[in-house]
Amino acid sequence: MKRLSVLLSILLSVLILAGCGDTSAPKAENTPASSSASAPKKSIVIYYSWSGTTRRLARKITDAAKADIAEIRTVTPYPTDYNEVAEQAKLEVEKGFMPEIRDDLPNLKNYDVVYIGTPTWWYHMSPPLASYLAKHGRELEGKHVMPFCTNGGKEGSTLSDIAKACPGAKVNPGLSLAGGQVESGGETIQQWIRQFEAQK
Ligand SMILES: Cc1cc2nc3c(=O)[nH]c(=O)nc-3n(C[C@H](O)[C@H](O)[C@H](O)COP(=O)(O)O)c2cc1C
Repeated sequence: MKRLSVLLSILLSVLILAGCGDTSAPKAENTPASSSASAPKKSIVIYYSWSGTTRRLARKITDAAKADIAEIRTVTPYPTDYNEVAEQAKLEVEKGFMPEIRDDLPNLKNYDVVYIGTPTWWYHMSPPLASYLAKHGRELEGKHVMPFCTNGGKEGSTLSDIAKACPGAKVNPGLSLAGGQVESGGETIQQWIRQFEAQK
C-alpha cells in the first residue's frame, strides 16, 4: 500500500512537470517576435519639402517601395521667397532652432521600414525634419531607416544628421540626389531599394 502511494506521487509529479512543459511550448511559438517575423514589413516615406523637389523624390520612392507616405509641415510656413528663406534657414541651422510642426503624422509603431527625406539646407538636414526627429526619433529604435535627401550637389552632413537623430535604429546607406537627377532617377532609386531589400 505504501509502495503504491509512492508510485502514485511519482506519477503525479511527472504529470505536473509534463503539464508545465506543454504550457510553455506554445507560448514560445506565439511570442510577438515570432509572429511579426513572418508578417510582411510595412514601409512609410516621411519627408519635408520646401519647393517640391524632395516631394517628387518621396513620391517616386513611395511607388517603388509600395509604401505609405506622409509630409512634415510646419505650423508657420516658411517664406516663399528664396532669399528670405535662405537667410532664415541659415540662422536656424546655425542655432539648431527647431520649428513647431503639425502633429498629424502616422504612428510609427505600424511600420518596420521608415524612409526619411529632406532637402539639404546649409549642408544639413532641414530644421523641420530636425523637429520631427527630435520628437519621434526614439520611436524608430529597432526599425530600418532609409535616409534620403535632395540638394544642389553639396549635401554636407545631411544624411549623417538623419542617422544621428535616430538612436537605436538600423540606419541603412542613404540616397542623395541633386534636384536635376530626380526626374530621371528611377533606376537609381530602384537599385537603392533593391540593395536594401537584399541585405535586410
Ligand atoms: C534654405 C536653403 C538652403 C540650401 N542649402 C543648400 C546646401 O547647403 N547645399 C546644396 O547643395 N543645396 C542647398 N540648397 C538647395 C536645395 O537643397 C535643393 O534645391 C533641394 O532639392 C530643394 O528641395 P525641396 O524642393 O524639397 O525644398 C538650399 C536651398 C534652400 C532653400
